[in-house]
Amino acid sequence: MTDHKQTPKHVAIIMDGNGRWAQMRLRPRLVGHHAGAKRVREVVKACPELGVKYLTIFAFSTENWKRTQTEVAGLMKLFKRYIRREAQNLLEEGVRVRFIGDRVRLEPALVDLMDGLELLTADNDKVHLTIALNYGGRDEVARAARRLAHDVEMGKLNPRDVCDETFPKYLDTYVLPDPDLVIRTSGEARISNFLLWQSAYSEYEFIDTLWPDFTAEVFAEVVGRFGARERRFGAVPV
Ligand code: IPE
Ligand code: IPE
Ligand code: MG
Repeated sequence: MTDHKQTPKHVAIIMDGNGRWAQMRLRPRLVGHHAGAKRVREVVKACPELGVKYLTIFAFSTENWKRTQTEVAGLMKLFKRYIRREAQNLLEEGVRVRFIGDRVRLEPALVDLMDGLELLTADNDKVHLTIALNYGGRDEVARAARRLAHDVEMGKLNPRDVCDETFPKYLDTYVLPDPDLVIRTSGEARISNFLLWQSAYSEYEFIDTLWPDFTAEVFAEVVGRFGARERRFGAVPV
């Protein structure tokens, strides 16, 4: 049961602290978001060597629309730019990209870029990068329940077959394994509506580093610590 040499196959990251990073430098919050975006490439690149096959990153939550119009618009622009600039590199690095979250509220130009990147990298298998954009765990569960109810209504699903194995097939993450390790940067110890269903048995690491300071070295260190954890899944260790 206990494996002390384990590596987390799926790491999920709440990339927090961009705003504070910028504020500390007396710069606008968007400067922090740009600095944060630069770290993503480095972290993705470090995955194969660390044995991380799946990386899921929280880029924009369903609650982040509450921010100023300037910040939201700047972030949407940054996402479009990121996809355009990184597409070729991700393809060449063997990264398969997926997006989770509700696309309905996103502007069509961004959704087109997201679809394009998913299609472009669909044959890759080295690293599976999932970007959570306009994602909220509660929203995802509610959307899943809606689809499930629709299938019941259409006679495709028997209510008696709804269980904790069938339900996650309706989640945005249906093709992904559950995260083994969830990292949150910036010192906040909360999950802010991230992967609520999927992280039921994840190990958590809350670290003080602000996301724009999260280097490949910091990533390796946090992933390394996972090896010493004992996961029980409710059982008694043997
Ligand atoms: C995380 O950094 C990025 C997003 C939520 C888009 P923040 O912007 O939340 O940074 P802080 O928490 O204000 O420092
Ligand atoms: C969580 O960070 C969302 C992302 C990292 C995209 P927030 O900064 O939005 O979370 P709260 O508001 O501190 O809980
Ligand atoms: Mg924050």
